[in-house]
Amino acid sequence: MSEHKKEFEPVIVAFTCEHCAYAAADLAGLSKMHFPPNVRTIRLPCTGKVDMLYILRAFELGADGVFVAGCLKDQCHYVDGNYKAEARVMFLKKVLDALGFGGDRLEMYFMSSAMSDKFVEVAHEFTERIRRLGPTPFFKRRSEVLAK
Ligand code: FES
Repeated sequence: MSEHKKEFEPVIVAFTCEHCAYAAADLAGLSKMHFPPNVRTIRLPCTGKVDMLYILRAFELGADGVFVAGCLKDQCHYVDGNYKAEARVMFLKKVLDALGFGGDRLEMYFMSSAMSDKFVEVAHEFTERIRRLGPTPFFKRRSEVLAK
């Protein structure tokens, strides 16, 4: 009997703004557009609410990748929440790179509520990116530290 190696299925957490990306994901679902079930969406009133600790906590709890999806630039309902989120994501990407964790495991996207096709495209592309990167190194690192 041959053994088949099971393909790695990444766990992806998506912090989404309810005015745009969350609504776009909802529209994609209503339109029966297929996107990977790997993506777990978390609804926020605005991506400006995304704290860096939320992102780190998602990784700590086992996410292999995290993305933040907010309104189109200059269309945030709270003026500049998406710009604040983008700045936090860009900073954290550098931190993750410096730690050897991989900044590519984190990304920021912008879309409107009508852009269900964009949400689907992002979900597919990001899932494939994380699949190529492999499982999160966090648990391996943690077990290495605890073993010392
Ligand atoms: Fe959507 Fe601010 S209201 S990102």
